[in-house]
Parts: sequence; structure tokens; C-alpha cells
Amino acid sequence: MTAEYKVDGGVAVITLNNPPVNGLGHATRSAIADGIRRAEDDPQVKAIVITGAGKAFSGGADIKEFNTPKSLAEPTLHTVLNLLEQAGKPVVAAIHSVAMGGGLELALGCHYRVAAPGAQIALPEVKLGLLPGAGGTQRLPRVLGLEMALNMIVSGNPVLSEKLAGTRLFDQLVEGDLLQGAIAFANKIADVRPLPLVRDRKIDYPDHEAFLQFSRNTVKAVAGPFPAPLKCLEAVAAAVTSPSFEEGLKVERELFRALVQTTESKALRHAFFAERAASKIPDVPDSTPQRPIKSAAIIGAGTMGGGIAMNFANAGIPVKLLEMKQEALDKGLATIRKNYENSMKKGKLTQEKFDQRMAAISGTLDYNEIGQADIVIEAVFEDMDVKQTVFRKLDEVMKPGAILASNTSTLDLDKIAAFTRRPQDVIGLHFFSPANVMRLLEIVRGAKTGADVLATAMALSKKIRKVGVVSGVCDGFIGNRMIEQYSRQAGFLLEEGALPEQVDRAIEKFGFAMGPFRMGDLAGNDIGWYIRKRRYIESPEISYSKTADLLCEMGRYGQKTSAGWYDYKAGDRKPYPSQVVNDMIVKHSADIGVERRKISDQEIVERLVYALVNEGAQLLDEGIALRASDIDMVYLTGYGFPLHRGGPMLYADIVGLPNVVSAMEKFARGRHGEAWKPAPLLARLAAEGKTFN
Ligand code: 3HC
Ligand code: NAI
Repeated sequence: MTAEYKVDGGVAVITLNNPPVNGLGHATRSAIADGIRRAEDDPQVKAIVITGAGKAFSGGADIKEFNTPKSLAEPTLHTVLNLLEQAGKPVVAAIHSVAMGGGLELALGCHYRVAAPGAQIALPEVKLGLLPGAGGTQRLPRVLGLEMALNMIVSGNPVLSEKLAGTRLFDQLVEGDLLQGAIAFANKIADVRPLPLVRDRKIDYPDHEAFLQFSRNTVKAVAGPFPAPLKCLEAVAAAVTSPSFEEGLKVERELFRALVQTTESKALRHAFFAERAASKIPDVPDSTPQRPIKSAAIIGAGTMGGGIAMNFANAGIPVKLLEMKQEALDKGLATIRKNYENSMKKGKLTQEKFDQRMAAISGTLDYNEIGQADIVIEAVFEDMDVKQTVFRKLDEVMKPGAILASNTSTLDLDKIAAFTRRPQDVIGLHFFSPANVMRLLEIVRGAKTGADVLATAMALSKKIRKVGVVSGVCDGFIGNRMIEQYSRQAGFLLEEGALPEQVDRAIEKFGFAMGPFRMGDLAGNDIGWYIRKRRYIESPEISYSKTADLLCEMGRYGQKTSAGWYDYKAGDRKPYPSQVVNDMIVKHSADIGVERRKISDQEIVERLVYALVNEGAQLLDEGIALRASDIDMVYLTGYGFPLHRGGPMLYADIVGLPNVVSAMEKFARGRHGEAWKPAPLLARLAAEGKTFN
């Protein structure tokens, strides 16, 4: 049963029991409706309490049912709310832990609400590209006032129940046993008539039109490509401007129906589930034992090591940084301090937190001082010989059971593991720069990595607030192996007729945070140059445009040399199109005998994005990535892929895989057509009319 029913001294108690978060799917809605009818029919019952079992009152509508017949099947949430409002006996919602979305709307349909302190109260639908569709936009302003309700609905952010005590949302805050408190409250109000309904309350706001217009402008400015925030506002506006409550509800319902069909909402819901799915590893069940992580060590206090250390300090885990020379250590620690100081200046960090974090980080030059750490993460130069020296040393000094991790971005993790006598303890933890900011953590599973090590790494990623995605071992893992195909296409586009600013503009218009050339200038073009030089020897069959090499030969490494694909002015990160670079590109086309042509923005976007899609499909075929949604998570959290498009694989699904394949067939007839052979999985799914997700 997804909701239980019992009677306690004249009070019927309906307990939602649909783990994990009492989502209001069809079965739960039916069980609530049955419970209310039963209580109505029972002459012994004077009042009704609705409460939730487990870790939530309710997390809201069951998102998995959206766009399926179940979401519209009777009783809908609206029907349940009508039943509640029309009940002849008082209904009290007893809220603990979480009342979100439809869960809060359910409570707003009750005659009374009591809550435990510490409960998270939210209408977070906007974060899924939706608006509250079961009366939330009409009822919340009636209990919290226009301004506060609008803020909650447009931001979707939770507010703690104790902060809402004293508003009309809650009739009582219950310290101690919530259910007993709710039953006592129900007994107290059992005979009160008429029963109060939120819908009957008035919203008083002088000059609401001016306020709504001001809010419209503010919301427009921050909504970006997402339609939901403004629609939320329009629905709330209807609560004040509609001639009746029912009219307002009608507006809300129409807006909700339209939003649930948008690709933006599908993308956001996909991202919600993709993030959670990524933490599940098929052959590593939840019951897998984990190793305790109470202390950490980092080898190398450079760009990555410092950022990685900050993640641990932020999570309250003491961390020691090891360097070869005092000077490098001092520099690394000073950078960390400066980063925290900047956060403090921006008001994002208190002095107390600053002190705590700095106290959690220490430095050393001596391997003997890190031997007792539960995990050590190596972030030294990207060179197999250096990695070998470090891992041999770690094998010597680290206590048994310590996890030995490498932050390598391109090297073979299995080779690194083989430098130790404990390959089962070795794992890749591939952070992204800046490591204290970027949410992605690729968790690289070596051939011999232990299941408990993997389970521990997954749990650790959550603790340090990263999105952990598992990747098998291959050159570049999931993210960088795909981005290489994207970069290759970007290079070929230059040879064929595009210029950096056109490519960047087209893909940024598509929604990427930064185009490939601006990104190259930021990260340093010499990194790719270094990798390509290795590739020219190891994989001579792979073709690249020479333009990026020519750029590096000109000494134009990017922002760090104040010159890259673009020109830069001192103290200014703004890219200015560069005549010398553009001349170099045009000359290069002539040198290789390519007649430059006008390339459309559509072709640019398709070639860059489908290159990602095809390599993604290849990774799925090879089992390097576990699921298409994992690839989407990598791109959404690590590579600035537009969130409103849901990641490359979902984007391909939405475009239609047959359309993707036919575009690829067209490109296969052009220059470097060999790059456009559809991966077997892509070809198969397209032929069968299926999707990745
Ligand atoms: N529908 C379906 N499944 C849901 C869900 C929902 N509303 N909310 C959470 N879940 C699932 C998750 O997918 C996850 O499943 P898994 O174990 O199979 O991976 C499980 O519940 C646990 O979720 P979390 O890992 O996120 O658990 P936390 O304890 O960290 O957080 C939470 C709990 C705060 C409720 C968080 O899950 C959350 O924010 N959920 C979404 C809340 C939301 O957006 N509600 C609005 C839904 S839309 C709506 O109500 C429309 C209405 O207006 C008509
Ligand atoms: P970096 O050059 O900024 O820092 C490396 C640090 O390691 C230096 O401070 C150096 O003194 C120290 N070091 C070198 N050998 C050492 C040794 N034997 N013992 C102790 N310390 C030693 O390099 P960065 O960028 O931090 O990269 C480190 C690792 O992270 C590399 O494997 C790189 O591929 C990987 N990586 C880098 C990313 C980036 O964007 N920079 C992104 C993801 C991974």
C-alpha cells in the first residue's frame, strides 16, 4: 500500500508510504482518496491527519509519470485536493523533513497544517522547467503574501519550516513527536466550523500591477533560455488578477500543460534523473562496504592539487598537500589562501569558515607524514615516469587499505595501478579545472579497482559535492575523448572557410558557455599541442587540422601569453578577433589547396555536436560509459553543454537519431569524411527508431 490508514482515538491517520520520498504517483493519489472517503464514512472519525512515513512528507508529484497516461489518470492531484476541500471533517497535514511541489500543494488543500522544525518547504517545479500545477501558484500567495510566494515559486528554493512559523502556512510548529502533536491539534479543532479553506483567503497587495511589472523585468533578465520562470510569474499574477479562484486555477493548469511538453523541461527532468542514475553502478550494489574517509593527502600543489584540496577542506575533511620543494608548496598554499580570501571579500565565506578551512589544510615535503591518510590523490605532472616514481613511493608509505587515486587526464590508469602491489586500491579521480568549482568528477575504474574502492569514491564525490560519473579506462576517458572529436571538427571548419569567431559565436548561440577557440585560449592551447604531438607518433592515422599547431608555433598559447586564437589586451579577458590569426588560417587553406567556402551556423553546430554524439555512442558500445545519461551528465557538469538541451545524447534523441545519421552521411561525403562513420550503436538505434535514453 502506498498510503496506510488507521484510526487513533477518533482521528483517522493517513500515512503516505511510497518510498523513497512519498512521490504522489497514481497509486498514492488513489490511496489518499480512498483514505479520505473511508474517514468520511466512519462515524467514529472526527478529524483526519495526513502524514508521511520515512524521509519526507512528500517530494511532490512522481516526476517519472510525467508525459505518461498515469499522470492524467483519476484521481489526479486536483481531484484529491477537491476531495480534501469538500471533506465534511477537518483535515490536518502533518509535515516533516520535506514538503515539496505537489506535496506542499497537497498540504495547502488541507484545512490545517502543522509542521516539525527543520522541514524543507518548497515549490521547486521551476527547477524542472515547470510550474506548480496543483494550485500552488494560487494558494501559496494566499497564505504567504504575494512577494514571498512569488520568490519561492520563481526561485524554487526551499525555506525551513521554522522560518515560516507565524505565517498562515502553518497553524502550529510541533516540537517533539509530530504525529502525536498533529493528533492533539486535530482533536482541538475537530468541531470548528466552517472549515477554513486557503482558496477563500484574499491576497492583499496594494498596487500589485506595479510590483508584478517590476518582477517581470527582473525575472526576464535572469531566466535565460528557460520559459518556466516567467510562466511561474504569470500564474502567480493570475492569483491576484483573476476574477475567481477557479479562473486562476485554469490559467495555472493551461500554463503547466504547455510547459510539461517543452524540451527545456524534458531536459531539466532528464538532468535530475541522470544525476541520480550516475551514482548507480550495476555490479556495485548499495550494500557494498565502504572505506571510511576521514583524512586525505594530495601529491602536487599545482593548479589541480590546490583546487582538489579545497574540496576536502570545504567538506570538513583534513587534507595534507605534499610537494617536492618548499617554494612550490608555499606557492600552492598561498593560492588556496587567496581563493578563500576572494570568497570572503565577495561575502560568500565568513571569517569563521575561512579559519576552519585554512586550518584543515596543511603542507609537507615528507612522504612519511601522509602515510596514515585514508585517501591520497596524485596531481603531479602528466608524465608516466613521474607518475611511476610517485605511485611506487605511495605503495611504500601508505597504510594498508588507503585508496590511491590519480587525477591523470590522459594516461593509462591500469599502467599506473601496476606500479603498486595493490592495484585493487587504485582508482582515477579526474577533477576538472578549476577543481574547487567544477561539479564533475570522472571516477575511472581500472581493470582491478576494488568494488569497495569504487563505492567509497562514489560516496566521497557526494560528500565533496561533486557529480561522480564512472568511466572505464581509455585515452581521455568519457569527456576528453569526446571533446577531441569536437575539437577536430572545429579545426577542419577553419580550414574549410570558417573563422574562430564564427565558430564560437554559432556554438555559443546554441547555448554552450564558451566556444572551442575561446575555451582553448582559456585552458592554454599548448596542452592540446602537447597531446597531439604524442598522437602524431602513437596514432598517425588520425588526422588533425594543422591550424592549432601553427598557432602554437607563433607562441600564441592563449590568455596566459595574451595571444591565442584571439588577441587580448592587458588586464582584460575579452577576446578580440585577430587579424594575424585569421590571415594564418586563410593562408593555411590555400597551402593545403582547400577552396574556402561560406559555412552556415547550422553546419557548425551540427558538426561539433554530432561529433560528440557519435563518439558518445562509441563509448557506450565499448562499455566505457555505462549509460547515455552518464555522458549527458559529464557534458552538462564538466563542459558547459547547454542545460536546456539536456546533454548531447538527449539532444540527439530529441532531434531524432535518423536525422542525426542522415546529417552524418552528408558530412561523410565532404572533407575528412572518414570521421563520420556512425558508431554501430547509433546506426542500430536509428534504424530501429529507438533513442539513447
Ligand atoms: N518524483 C519521482 N522520484 C523522485 C522525486 C519525485 N518528485 N523526488 C525524488 N525522487 C527519487 C529520486 O529520483 C531518487 O530515486 P533513486 O533512489 O531511484 O535514485 C530518490 O527519490 C531519492 O532522491 P534524492 O537522492 O534526491 O534524495 P534526497 O534525500 O537527497 O532529496 C528531495 C530528497 C529533496 C525530495 C529531492 O529528491 C528532490 O528535490 N526531489 C524533487 C522535488 C521536486 O522537484 N518536486 C516537484 C515535483 S513536480 C510536481 O510536484 C508537480 C506538481 O506541481 C503538480
Ligand atoms: P601543475 O603543473 O599546475 O601542478 C603539478 C604540481 O606537481 C607542481 O606543483 C609540481 O611541483 C608538483 N610535482 C611534480 N612532480 C612531483 C613529485 N614527484 N612529487 C610531488 N609534487 C610533484 O599541473 P596541473 O595542471 O595541476 O596537473 C596535474 C595533474 O592533473 C596532471 O596529471 C594533469 O593531467 C591533471 N589534470 C589537469 C587539469 C588541468 O586543467 N590543468 C584537468 C584535469 C586533470
